[in-house]
Formats: sequence, structure tokens, C-alpha cells
Amino acid sequence: MKIYDAIIIGAGVAGLNAAACFDKNDEVLVICKDNSWDCNTFYAQGGVSVPYDEEDVDVHIEDTIEAGAGLCDREAVRILCQDGRVAVDDLINRGFLFDRDENGELHYTREASHSRARILHAGGDATGRQMHHFLMQENVHTLLYNSTVTDLLIEGNICHGVRVYHKGIFRNYYAKTTIIASGGVGSIYKYHTNSKAISGEMQGLAYEKGMELRDMEMMQFHPTVFIHNQGARKQLLTEALRGEGAWIVDENGKRFLFEYDKRGPMSPRNIVSRSIFDWKQKTGLSVYLSLKNFKSDFFKKRFPTIYFNMKDLGLTLPQEDVRISPAFHYAMGGIKTDLNGKVPNFYNLYAIGEVANTRIHGANRLASNSLLEGLVFSKRAVLDIKSRDFEFEFRVFSKEEEDLVKDNDKKLKNTLRTLMWENAGIVREHTKLEETLKEIEKMLKSDIGKLLRLRLKTSREIVRAALERKESLGAHYIKKLKG
Ligand code: SIN
Repeated sequence: MKIYDAIIIGAGVAGLNAAACFDKNDEVLVICKDNSWDCNTFYAQGGVSVPYDEEDVDVHIEDTIEAGAGLCDREAVRILCQDGRVAVDDLINRGFLFDRDENGELHYTREASHSRARILHAGGDATGRQMHHFLMQENVHTLLYNSTVTDLLIEGNICHGVRVYHKGIFRNYYAKTTIIASGGVGSIYKYHTNSKAISGEMQGLAYEKGMELRDMEMMQFHPTVFIHNQGARKQLLTEALRGEGAWIVDENGKRFLFEYDKRGPMSPRNIVSRSIFDWKQKTGLSVYLSLKNFKSDFFKKRFPTIYFNMKDLGLTLPQEDVRISPAFHYAMGGIKTDLNGKVPNFYNLYAIGEVANTRIHGANRLASNSLLEGLVFSKRAVLDIKSRDFEFEFRVFSKEEEDLVKDNDKKLKNTLRTLMWENAGIVREHTKLEETLKEIEKMLKSDIGKLLRLRLKTSREIVRAALERKESLGAHYIKKLKG
């Protein structure tokens, strides 16, 4: 039986950078569900936040903690910001090209809740795509495409590897260490900015295997998304647009955000999303992103992804305003890990990136901290694995698997997406959360495939956590009904 040194589930920034941190001669298998590029990293626009200089480390820490509404782990944030500069410099030394200004200096932009410009970007607004391309080119390890991980081969506190479904066949792959880097939960919400491969099944599987999911109520909604395109993934309009001069206005041109927070469009993401949601409900007016402060030539060069995506959808930017809505964007909650990405109570199981919860992001992630997290914590995980050299006796697991999909699943999946969007979204009410929990339990009892069951279990943990947190905090906003 072949035994890999490591199996990595997921080929986004965390997964691919973890692969890069292993030695060339290590046997590493990277598994991705779809095409390798169909991951959230690929669609990340804004950039990578990083302390501008030594003095900025403490400021970046405080900005992260303030955005996180008090739920961050200070030590995790300190590691992110302090190791962040090293991780970014390392990437540059490996040959990655961030955008530079006319003097050849790195160009830093600004995003909401950052007290200074500290966001690096590449290809204008194609930071994630460029980074993914770079990490793929660098990768020397085996990549398995179009492969769904259907089970973790766990016995006691040891993970022996994974079961994978690929082209109609189930196979077991064995490894000394397994790293989960499978991303967030986008597809369980009706409107989201995530890759279609991000389905939230892995969190459900982790739950079934006895891992602790933490802060699952903390789901982030990006404020500026064009949701009227076809397809599950909606068009993100990066925060950097607001950082560089875009306005949020209602259809009468009113900059209503100032009625909610004096920082207006530069308020934290949760506040901007909620204000848009509230203003639309209260006034019945549509809300737009106005790009009129940009010069046409500059805009096309600085934000080419958005320019061309919106052109395909029939809008000419920056001349035309874009109708926007908040949409699900990022899961702060996930598999609880220590500060090296190790899953407590398991000897050789790690989780990194969006699927993990180290409490870096607390109750609300600071913009552009996630690519940085992927870089920093993937390296820490691999260093930790190397330092342990854990040995155990492998056993062969059966390849038998339940039905992954059943006839009714598609319909139920859509019901779930609507329920989660309406009741476990930007503004939550206790009674509606309870109704949703009941609906989820009902669906769980019906005749469904394994993948939907895992999705439902992830959703149930989000709803349960939202019910348990009685007061609003960060991205979790609970509306109290009068009387
Ligand atoms: C954006 O470009 O607005 C997204 C950045 C992020 O989610 O960190």
C-alpha cells in the first residue's frame, strides 16, 4: 500500500503553499474537487494585507482585533501580522510579482477598517488569480483533480488518509499526515461570491468525525456584490474600489452610509453590509456602487477583472453605476485548531485557511487578511508536522461508501440555500433561526445522499451557534423583536 508523507485536501493558497513548504522529495498528494483553479483563492480580488513596516505591525494587529469585534485571539493575530511580512517577502523572493508604482516601489492600497494603505495586489484586481497561478507553477507534488473527498479514514485519534471519489470510482489514499485546506461554505447560501466547489461538506464531515467546529455563527457578507448574473457565484466588487474612491449611494444619489457610521464606506464590512440591507428594507430603494471618481483609463488598468466581467454583463465602468447587494463571502467559523493548524485531540490531522478557526478573524474578518492567513499558517503547519515525526501502524480501510447523491438532493439543496440566506444571513431573528433548525432536522431525516447530509450538518452548526449567541457581535446580528 502506498503511503504519502502528506495528503492536502484543497488547492487554494493554504493548500498549495503547504505543498510548497514540504521538501521536493517528500511524497505529497494534493486533492482538489474540481479544476485546480476553482477555489476561492482564484477569485480573490483585493489583495494581501501586510504590515507596511516594523512600526505598522502593532497597528495591523489592532485593526484586525477591532474589526474582529473582540473575538480574536491576540496571539493568533500577532503571529499573522508578525510572520505576515516574512511570508510576503518570501513569496516575492520566490518570484511572485506584486503591482508596483511608477517608481518601481510596491503599491499598497487601502481597504475598509485598515488605518493605512497596506494591501498589496497583483494584476490590478486579480491578486488571487495571479497567486494561484504562481503557486501552481511552483508545485512539484502530485495533484489529483475532479476528486471529491468523501471520508476521512480515522480510527481513534489517528487519521490514516482519505477516501476519494474520482470518475465513478472510490479509492482510499493513505498518508502519515492529513491537512484539510478545503475552504469555506459558500454554496450553502443562495447569494455568494465563492467558487462552486466550496460546498461546506468538509465542515460537516469534520463534525461527524468528532472535531470541534467553533464560531460557526460568524459568517461574513461582502457588501458590494453584483448578484444579477447567472450562475451560483456572484460578481465581487472589491473593497479596494471604496478604498480608492468609489461611493455607495441609493438610487437618489444619497450617501446613506454616513447615517449609520461616521466612517461611511470605510466602516467594517459587517456594518456596511447591514446598513445596505437596512436602508433597502426601510426605503425600498435600490443601492449602487458609484465609480464616477475614477478616470476611465485608470479604472480599466487598475481593475481589469471587474471592468471586463461587468462589460460581459452589459455594463460600462466606471461610467455606469453598479446595482449592489451584500452576499455571503467568508466563513470565520470552522474547525478549531491550535496556532499551528493542528486539530486538537488528533495526532496527525491539520486544518488551515478558511476551513480552520484559529480566531485570527474573530467575529468579523479584516479585509484581505485571508490570503495572508493561508501563507502564514500553511507554513506553520508544515513546520509543526516536520517537528513531530509521528509514527503509527497503518490499517487498510474498506472502500465501501454510501450513495453520495440521491434524486431529491438538488431540490433540497436549493431550499437550504434560500433558508440560510433568508434566516441565517445578515440579519437574524430567533424564531426564524428556530424554524430553520427544524427544517434542517426534517431534511436530515429524509432520503438524501451523503454530500447533502454533510452540507446540512454544517448548516445546522451555523444555525445552532447563531441560536446560542443571544447578543449581536461582529458579523452575527440578531434582531430583537419588540414586546
Ligand atoms: C475584496 O477584494 O474586497 C475581498 C477581499 C477580502 O475578502 O479579503
